[in-house]
Amino acid sequence: MSETHRVKILLAEDDVPKDFYNIAADLKTPLAPPLHPGTREPVPPEVFYPLFPKEVVRQEYSTERFVPIPEEVRDALLRSGRPMPLFRATRLEKHLKTPAKIYFKHEGMNPCGSHKPNTAIAQAYYNLKEGTETIYTETGAGQWGTALAYSAMLFGLKCEVFMVKVSFEQKPYRKAMIETYGAKVHASPSPHTEYGRKVLAAKPDHTGSLGIAISEAIEKVVTDPSHKSKYSLGSVLNHVMLHQTVIGQEVRAQLALEDAVPDYVIGCIGGGSNFAGISFPLIYDKMKGKNNAEFIAVEPASCASTTKGKFEYDFGDTAGMTPLMKMYTLGKDYIPSAIHAGGLRYHGMAPTVSQLVADGAVLPRSYEQKEVFEAGVTFARTEGIIPAPESSHAIKAAIDVALDCKKRNEAKTIVFNLSGHGLLDLGGYQKYLDGKLE
Ligand SMILES: Cc1ncc(COP(=O)(O)O)c(C=O)c1O
Repeated sequence: MSETHRVKILLAEDDVPKDFYNIAADLKTPLAPPLHPGTREPVPPEVFYPLFPKEVVRQEYSTERFVPIPEEVRDALLRSGRPMPLFRATRLEKHLKTPAKIYFKHEGMNPCGSHKPNTAIAQAYYNLKEGTETIYTETGAGQWGTALAYSAMLFGLKCEVFMVKVSFEQKPYRKAMIETYGAKVHASPSPHTEYGRKVLAAKPDHTGSLGIAISEAIEKVVTDPSHKSKYSLGSVLNHVMLHQTVIGQEVRAQLALEDAVPDYVIGCIGGGSNFAGISFPLIYDKMKGKNNAEFIAVEPASCASTTKGKFEYDFGDTAGMTPLMKMYTLGKDYIPSAIHAGGLRYHGMAPTVSQLVADGAVLPRSYEQKEVFEAGVTFARTEGIIPAPESSHAIKAAIDVALDCKKRNEAKTIVFNLSGHGLLDLGGYQKYLDGKLE
């Protein structure tokens, strides 16, 4: 630890990637197509046109390896803070007394506080280009809703967000952020949709779920008589994973500046997008023999889709309005407990990440809420950053891997994605510190 280290590995604006990387071009097992729930036949791209802009649908089905990033999108990515720094966590290394080198990509350093603007910006842009007036979405922890509200503001679109009720109550300042950007936000289940009213009639104190909030947002789009509304999803789908790959491409360039090759690449998984973002470009590198890293995806034990779920066709939402997707799933009706990592409370997993897990290219693991908060607090007390509870899952795994390296006395290179900061998650931290966390 006596040598000097660079703390932040920075890139120039020109280093922000010019293409998204599409792992569909390189998967060992090609992605299973989405199916019509009635006929169980593959659904053609046109089925998605009422919900998403055509360019987004094209990307969803695309197997071209690189998709050029439009100049307006790159410009907005720059405005939102890209390129993001890669930090060397030397204080954490010292605390753990590990010979491992720990790096983290700080995706919380933008106006919204998480990686979510990377796809929100792209989606808002494609919507603008195709004449959308209002974008509807759901949000769990509120990070995605904030990012879409911010991106809709950048491109002059209206935005309405259905926020899972438990998070709406846990994180009132997310609502304030979304409204400050000019969007509307409703606690879901809400009285604003037929499906929301049905759920509330059956259980008036329902705490909500991402699956229910997705159903409400989709209902708004398909029942809009003007046909000027579209839906936007913050994770799971192929195009979202694609947009997030700016993260891993930057990490690749930053590690090269350090002459470092990753041995472990770690991210938390809710729907899979921040993990995909950091890992897919580095998985591509591994296929080309440029690294031999282990890719670790971390989920909460209370919503353990990839470690406890089944790899099968399931709906993306709870009402069953979406086509069926092949993914690891706990079942569309699964309601996870009200953990503070609201962004990880989703019953399914991105088909791309699921396929990589099924093929053994990505190794999933799960942790309990308390040990995750403990890792988050360790990070705050060493590196000084209060992480989002979602990101603390990745931190917990990075700490465990670093401690394994210590046992084996191996100076491996660990990289994890700090997908967001936790400054609007302080209610959860307070409970942890007061010993009241379940
Ligand atoms: C900070 C943060 N990290 C991670 C996630 C999980 O989503 P994903 O797996 O799509 O990255 C979320 C979702 O809201 C989030 O807000």
